[in-house]
Amino acid sequence: MIGRLNHVAIAVRDLAAASKVYRDTLGAEISGPEALPEHGVTVVFITLPNTKIELLEPLGADSPIARFLEKSPDGGIHHVCYEVDDILAARDRLVKSGARVLGSGEPKIGAHGKPVLFLHPKDFCGTLVELEQA
Ligand code: CO
Repeated sequence: MIGRLNHVAIAVRDLAAASKVYRDTLGAEISGPEALPEHGVTVVFITLPNTKIELLEPLGADSPIARFLEKSPDGGIHHVCYEVDDILAARDRLVKSGARVLGSGEPKIGAHGKPVLFLHPKDFCGTLVELEQA
């Protein structure tokens, strides 16, 4: 059911410092920072030949990654995003198999302008999984 790895998201406390690591130390091509207030993050996109990395910095008081960074002050992998051909069919299949979809269960428009859903980490090997309509 799942297709390509769309991106790996890494939560960071300092987006400028993390961008410098990826740009200067790792030699990656990175975007400028983009604030996404509706998601509570500021994001930098890193384009690799076969996938993307997203650096996420908390934006606003109730950012969904604030608690993650309290537990992991150095930052860390926050979620992985897999593409699916039909997000509603994927959701229905997962729910039928007993997996938990976070939030209302209805897809939201994600950072790339496409519908996304998040799945409970406890059902997926301790990893928060994002599904994105391909
Ligand atoms: Co994501």
